[in-house]
Amino acid sequence: MAGVNRGFHVRPMTEYDIGPIMALENDLFGADAWSESMLRSEFAEPTRHYVVACRDDTAEGGAGTGSDGGGPVLGYAGLRSVPPEGDVQTIAVDRAWWGRGIATALLTELLTRAYSQEVTDVFLEVRSDNRRAQELYRRFGFVDIGVRRNYYRDADAIVMRCSQVASALVQTGGGEVGEAPEAGSPDDPLEGTEPLPGARASGPVGFGAAFADSHDGGMTDTTDPAGGRDAAPGEEKA
Ligand SMILES: CC(C)(COP(=O)(O)OP(=O)(O)OC[C@H]1O[C@@H](n2cnc3c(N)ncnc32)[C@H](O)[C@@H]1OP(=O)(O)O)[C@@H](O)C(=O)NCCC(=O)NCCS
Repeated sequence: MAGVNRGFHVRPMTEYDIGPIMALENDLFGADAWSESMLRSEFAEPTRHYVVACRDDTAEGGAGTGSDGGGPVLGYAGLRSVPPEGDVQTIAVDRAWWGRGIATALLTELLTRAYSQEVTDVFLEVRSDNRRAQELYRRFGFVDIGVRRNYYRDADAIVMRCSQVASALVQTGGGEVGEAPEAGSPDDPLEGTEPLPGARASGPVGFGAAFADSHDGGMTDTTDPAGGRDAAPGEEKA
């Protein structure tokens, strides 16, 4: 999806973007950052859809050179899509470009892909102290459905879900979205299921896979003895 007078555009990630992405990854996530091998294995998964936001040629700033002949990579995001469920694997934007709608554009692209693949429920995990990211997700209709204690090295993770992907796309553009059904409500597709086991699924899968593979959901408060971000390559941090 192309940006219009925004100073950036969104395009599919290529292997040449890995270097610039890793520079942003290490800066933005610190101890929670993925290693390059984690990113590469994520990118190689056929169920993934990774995109980058690149500076338009005429704009200023940025962290690295893009692979499309355009400007440097300003942000990136990844989706795991295994219909009917999906996961936002990661999303991040160069600090110098925060507040300009880049994450909104990246998330719109991921949800558009999810919708096109008939994904009905998109999940993610976000640090409990990351209010900025939580507000971004809420604007897209994500609601809190649980907490994973000690998921990150020094913080819990809030698990969020968007069950109205089409609604989020129609109504946001970064703006207001319709209400998603609350966990436990009659409209909640996971209502009546058992809580998710404490340990996350191992291997390069996302939270939705843990849901799907274990045929459960509706988690409220779990502990992750595997230690969160380092538990397995390819786990999502968003
Ligand atoms: C969270 C994060 C991805 C948000 O990225 P971003 O590009 O700044 O997000 P957006 O610009 O789309 O939206 C953020 C804000 O900008 C505002 N905004 C959106 N478009 C805008 C525009 N064109 N002009 C001005 N402001 C705009 C939004 O309303 C929003 O405002 P608010 O924060 O006051 O509510 C970014 O802060 C980041 O990379 N953080 C570190 C990594 C991280 O935490 N990732 C999430 C892991 S779960």
